[in-house]
Amino acid sequence: MSREKVAVLMGGRSLEREVSLASGERVVDALTSLGYRVLALDITPELVETLRAERPDCCYIALHGKDGEDGTIQELLEFLGIPYTGPGVTASALAWDKAVAKRLFLENDIPTPPWVTLTADAFKEAGAATALDLIPSVAGDYPLVVKPAKQGSALGLNRIDEASLLAEALLTALGYDDAAIIEKWIDGPELAVSVLNGLGGIEVLPPVEIVAKSGLFDFQAMYTQGETDYFVPARLQMSVFAEVERLARKVHELLGCRDVSRVDMVVGADGTPYVLECNTSPGMTQTSLLPMAAKAVGLSFQDVVERLTQAALSRRDSGTNFNTGV
Ligand SMILES: Nc1ncnc2c1ncn2[C@@H]1O[C@H](COP(=O)(O)OP(=O)(O)O)[C@@H](O)[C@H]1O
Ligand SMILES: [Mg+2]
Repeated sequence: MSREKVAVLMGGRSLEREVSLASGERVVDALTSLGYRVLALDITPELVETLRAERPDCCYIALHGKDGEDGTIQELLEFLGIPYTGPGVTASALAWDKAVAKRLFLENDIPTPPWVTLTADAFKEAGAATALDLIPSVAGDYPLVVKPAKQGSALGLNRIDEASLLAEALLTALGYDDAAIIEKWIDGPELAVSVLNGLGGIEVLPPVEIVAKSGLFDFQAMYTQGETDYFVPARLQMSVFAEVERLARKVHELLGCRDVSRVDMVVGADGTPYVLECNTSPGMTQTSLLPMAAKAVGLSFQDVVERLTQAALSRRDSGTNFNTGV
């Protein structure tokens, strides 16, 4: 007997299109082998018409980056009355914008590296370029990292070791988004901490420790097999472990991430885990971190896909958490 109809949204026009297609293909395979009726859909001008004609029971969002992860597609699916996997509109929008998310972390006692946000308009309209000398007094001494406020997969991100490199790094970041974050570089183990909601409530999966062979966990290190070593669970002292778990849970709840999130952190020399960001549509590729963490607790890729799909379908049944429309 075939199960519900699930439309997998994948591809799209974001810079992470290829990553999304890789995630989507695996999700399609998993859903198919779980017995669902599966429709793989790219984001095209015909999407809404297709969704209205096909009337899937839910959408599985395998999109990453702008439009897929920032609340845009979520808002559209709310309008159409189709439940979908992952966080809702508000959580997506808050988490996607690092400038907003970091403010929320600061206001809620969640350690995040000191930083400055500068928008393109602040440069164009208000002469922010004349205050670049103040940056170390707020964000800390070099090395600093400069990145777009709204982007993923380390695109537009540069670590800079001296002030002479700042202007170019800012231009790069502002080529990707209308706001740039200049943040203290934290030297220490990097962690990705996945959070899943299950029957028993929020479950924090074992932190994955990331050791990029090049020293920078950039696009290539993220998606090329063999470029990065992963340790699951991360090699941490017990006290740090507990703090990492507490913070991941707190970030997930603070932003309202509902079914799933992945919180990226770096542990400072004093053992403080600093939260860099929270991802609301974590990668599901061969080298991705959420599937890796799930495996460590005996959850297969299929189990994760099944859990997220069931959570979306339960919203259809209960009519909660999405507008049912008229
Ligand atoms: N402040 C920082 N200190 C150390 N490493 C950082 C810092 N900010 C970013 N990185 C590195 O760059 C990667 C991407 O940065 P992140 O803030 O997670 O943005 P995104 O993944 O959305 O591009 C991180 O996984 C980490 O390796
Ligand atoms: Mg990240």
